[in-house]
Amino acid sequence: MPATFLLAFVGDELVGRTSIRHGLNDFLLAAGGHIGYAVLAQFRRRGFATEILTQSLVVARSYDVGSVLVTCDEDNEASARVITRCGGVLENIVDNPEGGPRKRRYWIG
Ligand SMILES: CC(C)(COP(=O)(O)OP(=O)(O)OC[C@H]1O[C@@H](n2cnc3c(N)ncnc32)[C@H](O)[C@@H]1OP(=O)(O)O)[C@@H](O)C(=O)NCCC(=O)NCCS
Repeated sequence: MPATFLLAFVGDELVGRTSIRHGLNDFLLAAGGHIGYAVLAQFRRRGFATEILTQSLVVARSYDVGSVLVTCDEDNEASARVITRCGGVLENIVDNPEGGPRKRRYWIG
């Protein structure tokens, strides 16, 4: 799936990254979602992931993706909070077709 990959900087310091897919294939619809992000360990718990997802949603909407699907591992409390803060509504929790932890699937309208 075509995607936009962006790095997040504060000044000249790299703090995180995001990947914004321009659509969903079967795997992304089932478990991967439109947007994946991460913050470097030393910069966590400062609101950067919330800001990264907020800005990623603007990019996703510029590709007319409609409602945005964002997923995280069932036990990833930090990511679940980020998604909820950004307006995510939990649809369900599903098995990951690739194995590993189950996935929480949220839609942001
Ligand atoms: C998940 C991740 C992106 C969060 O990044 P972050 O910059 O620390 O997140 P924020 O500072 O924006 O925190 C958002 C919320 O999560 C909470 N949080 C952050 N780390 C937490 C932790 N380890 N345990 C519980 N809650 C946590 C914050 O307190 C905050 O809650 P609040 O909004 O109720 O105050 C980061 O931990 C990470 O990169 N993890 C590895 C990759 C990953 O899991 N990516 C997500 C895949 S979908």
